[in-house]
Amino acid sequence: MDTTRIYVPRETSAVSVGADDVAVEIARVAKQSGIAIELVRNGSWGASWLEPMVEVEVDGVRIAYGNVGPGDIAGMFDSGFVEGGEHEKRLGPIQEIPYLIQQDRWTLFRCGLIDPLSVENFRAAQGFNALEKAFAEGPDAVLSAVVESGLRGRGGAGFPTGIKWRTVAETDADQKYIACNADEGDSGTFSDRLLMEGDPMCLIEGMAIAGFATGASKGYIYLRSEYPLTQRILSRAIDAARDAGWLGDDIQGSGFSFDIDLHLGAGSYVCGEETAMLESLEGKRGIVRAKPPLPAIDGLFGKPTVVNNVITLASVPNIINLGGDRYASFGINRSKGTLPFQLSGNIKRGGVVEKAFGITLRELIEEYGGGTASGRPVKAVQVGGPLGALLAEVQLDVEMDIEAFAEIGAMIGHGGIVVFDDTAHMAQQARFAMEFCAIESCGKCTPCRIGSTRGVEVIDRIIAGEDRDANFALLTELCDTMEDASLCAMGGMTPYPVRSILKHFAEDFASQ
Ligand SMILES: Cc1cc2nc3c(=O)[nH]c(=O)nc-3n(C[C@H](O)[C@H](O)[C@H](O)COP(=O)(O)O)c2cc1C
Ligand code: SF4
Repeated sequence: MDTTRIYVPRETSAVSVGADDVAVEIARVAKQSGIAIELVRNGSWGASWLEPMVEVEVDGVRIAYGNVGPGDIAGMFDSGFVEGGEHEKRLGPIQEIPYLIQQDRWTLFRCGLIDPLSVENFRAAQGFNALEKAFAEGPDAVLSAVVESGLRGRGGAGFPTGIKWRTVAETDADQKYIACNADEGDSGTFSDRLLMEGDPMCLIEGMAIAGFATGASKGYIYLRSEYPLTQRILSRAIDAARDAGWLGDDIQGSGFSFDIDLHLGAGSYVCGEETAMLESLEGKRGIVRAKPPLPAIDGLFGKPTVVNNVITLASVPNIINLGGDRYASFGINRSKGTLPFQLSGNIKRGGVVEKAFGITLRELIEEYGGGTASGRPVKAVQVGGPLGALLAEVQLDVEMDIEAFAEIGAMIGHGGIVVFDDTAHMAQQARFAMEFCAIESCGKCTPCRIGSTRGVEVIDRIIAGEDRDANFALLTELCDTMEDASLCAMGGMTPYPVRSILKHFAEDFASQ
């Protein structure tokens, strides 16, 4: 009897809307009907609005069914699901779904495609080819390719990755480290999670390449504790890679040894800041360190350390496979390559959309996102997490370009895009920005620790209509102080959302 392969994502957003129950029901109905199936728990393709998205492989073509619930399964089997039969939930072949095929899936190309825990699946889809190529060509060739690619950090600050790696490579030390920042604390961001759950070995490969290029033998992944499923998938993937000889001593007889430890955070936003993360990894309280020294020279346990975001590291294998110049041909100006943009908030088609830099916010929100979920007009869009500016509808034609965003007092950051419709009250969002900072501040410097609390109070007075002009002036002055005098971007960028709201939505302070 032929066995039919059926895919059901084991990924947090899919599981949150019932993917596990769907998998159980598929197994039950198949058994009851005497149909032989192989159930593969893949990652998500990133079209969260279609989850749980089930696929059935028919003659090598994967046919997708969207928003499937356990109650749909019996009917789907009755409609010839295992042959890709018609059903109201049928979307058609996965490679014809516009949301997916119109993307530039450079980094996420294996997410959804493979079984994330299978080394064989990973190898069959070019996995570890880049590490083998790195072994063959040597560390200098890797460093040159990363520099040539123009890759910049995807964690927020956009620092050139090649320069960071070169600094670590050129610093003499008996021990160096690769520290992967998987804290993913920004509101509206989930691309790190999608990658780690759908293609964890891509991150493992990227970290091993970083270690090989810089002379580091040890890697740490600092994962937020709010991702328990990611933790399970990542640890199993690390074990599987080690069992297959892709981690550990003398990887594949190359003479290069590298291993990875997985560490959990404890729910602090500021522990995503790289030096606070290093403190936390060392077992201390997550407080920001003054820079210099840079972590690249004096980082984890005082040793040279590459700190990179998940997506930064996961972008590297394809840069090695396909060439730095190829990567640099995507994007615009100094924003090279692609970014997995994450659409959430009040949006019809939320999910992850990997596109080259240069696409506009409007294209992402309207063409991919389908506009607001409520059907009401877009009022504001927050890009780049809780420290990102809130852009007005008239600014949606700005291109996704790190410098273009900086020019308008905004940032792309990790690429989170949160949409608000015209019922949202922006004065409350300004208050929230200050309140968030007050709660999450590490407390090391005064402008952030005290300024954020004073910021909440001043905004409350404005909302209450108390001495508005004087309090607006005070708020602006407070923003100047926080921006100029904070030790890190937590206090330094909290004014971004506040200022953008004062500029574009000042009328909301009156309508409270
Ligand atoms: C308050 C704060 C929170 C941050 N949170 C994260 C985070 O969750 N994940 C991340 O990769 N970078 C975060 N960053 C940026 C890191 O400090 C650092 O720039 C980044 O990990 C470097 O990696 P990259 O060059 O690959 O982006 C945060 C920065 C600040 C100031
Ligand atoms: S700005 Fe805030 S989070 Fe950053 S060091 Fe100062 S108190 Fe800590």
